[in-house]
Amino acid sequence: MVLSIIIALCAAPGLMGTQEAIRQAQAKEKREEHRARRCKLVARCVRASARRCEIDGRQLVLRNNKLYIDTETPRDIQFGHPFTGYYLPYPEASYEGLVTTVRDDIPMLNWIYIDKETNEVKYGVRVDAQPNLTGPFDCTRQDRRLTFEGWEGFVAAEESPNIWAVYFDVEDDGLKGKVSPETRILEIELSRKETRYKKDAEARKEDQTTTHDEKHMHVSVDAEDQT
Ligand SMILES: *[C@@H]1O[C@H](CO)[C@@H](O)[C@H](O)[C@H]1NC(C)=O
Repeated sequence: MVLSIIIALCAAPGLMGTQEAIRQAQAKEKREEHRARRCKLVARCVRASARRCEIDGRQLVLRNNKLYIDTETPRDIQFGHPFTGYYLPYPEASYEGLVTTVRDDIPMLNWIYIDKETNEVKYGVRVDAQPNLTGPFDCTRQDRRLTFEGWEGFVAAEESPNIWAVYFDVEDDGLKGKVSPETRILEIELSRKETRYKKDAEARKEDQTTTHDEKHMHVSVDAEDQT
């Protein structure tokens, strides 16, 4: 009797019908589908701060190979290209990296990575990203906030008045030795925000892409020359 129960337990996984296996795979795919959608990243301060209104609800933008919070200063100048990206398996790695468009007019993607030395969050082609920290990038289950190496260690550091650069606090020590002690730093959360669904089906498909029919874009991720 005991023996037959044990056998039944052992056999159970194999008993799952092909239909059920397919259904589960499809459900998983549907659950994971959001990962390949292009999203913006929006910052929010974790703790109360007099400065948080400068940061809360602001998008992340790309500028000079680094990520910044778009504090819209000065207001009439676009501070940088808005981060617009999604998860993509990192080449020759078992985890997912994060890619972003870098310009509006050229379909080119760069990798997001954390600079090993400075802990700044940067974007660049693979040769820049490779020797640094390229993943795993992931998201929290419920709210789909961005995580790196399984946790949320993103901080904003005030590089110059009102200019906040994004860092990942790798050592979880408040960027000790990475920024000068008087630099203002604030812990932030980064929420993924889907680009707005457009009426035009083609435009929507382009923005909400889940199929990787952008092969020409991926090539540039590996390209050595980004200009
Ligand atoms: C990390 O990337 C930067 C470019 O952002 C590069 O200068 C540096 O050499 C890389 N780090 C390492 C450890 O190679």
